[in-house]
Amino acid sequence: MASQKTAGDLLPFDALDKTGRELIVAANSARKYAYCPFSKFAVGAAVIWDDSEEIHIGSNIENSSYGNCICAERTALAKGITEGRRRVKAVAVAAEMSDRPDYVSPCGICRQFIYEFGDDVKIYLSKPSDIHGQVLVTSIQCLLPLGFRF
Ligand code: THU
Repeated sequence: MASQKTAGDLLPFDALDKTGRELIVAANSARKYAYCPFSKFAVGAAVIWDDSEEIHIGSNIENSSYGNCICAERTALAKGITEGRRRVKAVAVAAEMSDRPDYVSPCGICRQFIYEFGDDVKIYLSKPSDIHGQVLVTSIQCLLPLGFRF
């Protein structure tokens, strides 16, 4: 598999601005609310908006009918959108594979979902076992080039 390093900048947590650090801590804290009895893969996400200081968190919610699962990123965005927020500034994701060192990155559906609400969105990918360690900082433009929007 190609190195993830080409998809963003690997930065130390301490090099990030206050918003970035708060977003990552919030995404990590959201993992405890994950409902993931099937995959046992807990994901946390946090989002901050252009016109608000408020951070919304989300976790993945699985279902016995597997196709009915929703990712952490979309639950976090849905909370803000349903409170009137429309422009995403940044999203943080916190999750980790037990058997791979890769950063966990939003799935294709979540990339498109994020893009609907912002084309200049910073994305922080973090590892729960080392939240104050290295963070992969990327963007929606990088993760979803030529995204579709009406
Ligand atoms: N998942 C997320 O919540 N976000 C991601 O970025 C990747 C995948 C969830 C969906 C499902 O509950 C579990 O992880 C395994 O795919």
